[in-house]
Amino acid sequence: MAKPAVTRRILESTSASGYWRPMRPELDFTFHAGGTADLVELDQDHPGFRDEVYRSRRNVIARIALDYPTGTRVPDAPYTAEEHAVWREVWAALEPVHQERVCSEILELQQVMPLQRDEIPQLGALNPQLYASGGFRMEPVAGLVSARTFVRYLGRRVFLSTQYIRHHSRPFYTPEPDILHELVGHAATLVHPGIAEVNRMLGEAADVADEQEMLRIERMYWYTMEFGLVRQAGQIKAFGAGLLSSVGELSDFDTHAELMDWDLRTIANTPYDPTQYQAKLFVAPSFTRMLVDVCGWVRSGAWRNRQAG
Ligand SMILES: [Fe+2]
Repeated sequence: MAKPAVTRRILESTSASGYWRPMRPELDFTFHAGGTADLVELDQDHPGFRDEVYRSRRNVIARIALDYPTGTRVPDAPYTAEEHAVWREVWAALEPVHQERVCSEILELQQVMPLQRDEIPQLGALNPQLYASGGFRMEPVAGLVSARTFVRYLGRRVFLSTQYIRHHSRPFYTPEPDILHELVGHAATLVHPGIAEVNRMLGEAADVADEQEMLRIERMYWYTMEFGLVRQAGQIKAFGAGLLSSVGELSDFDTHAELMDWDLRTIANTPYDPTQYQAKLFVAPSFTRMLVDVCGWVRSGAWRNRQAG
């Protein structure tokens, strides 16, 4: 299938609100993917599979994403008191682990854009600050989209975010990304102009990458933005979103995972399993070195100078 023609002019166009929006309606970025049947289908081993109320909530929240036109203010998700309680409970457990195991840059970003602890923040309320710093905004998505779709949106400074929250019976476990992962893991990091730029560059590369190249881009994203570690003051600290949002994996990453030397070629060729604690994690010499190296890796990829379309 031919890739949609995406030119730099389109990438840089903005809507009246100042946000990027596609100029050509045939591009598949206007309405978000995620399925239309019973909206949300949960696996039998999902904690909410037998909970009709939870399944109904998931459908209500998925509908927001399916009806959402890109570039507009994200409608507030009507969270219940029980859902807010899950947010509070997980944050209370995460906070002390963050202080111990998260790198100083991320802790500082959490001061720059503090997330409220008592209730689940709304994407629409966070977007102005995200946009003002790294140029990103979060838009709702009903469910999982392909890696290429997800990363390509990053190239347009759009982070596709789920809005639902995990099932209350297992607040420290989720088999899929949820609003807690998106906000605790990603939102504060996208305030950082360097992280925002890495995300954007990976997205532009995904526009033109062939299937093998896309795999390498996906792994680079996974082992840095999702599960990256850095050396800091003689210790190993986390900055990846998957670690930031998981009490268990953040607490014990150095005993669960083999800690690998920082080598971008190895990262790009190392498969991962999103359903398990990560077997391998890569440790960058520093936060700045991680940003510089990943930017350089994207700029020197085989996709450089290749036109989309
Ligand atoms: Fe993520």
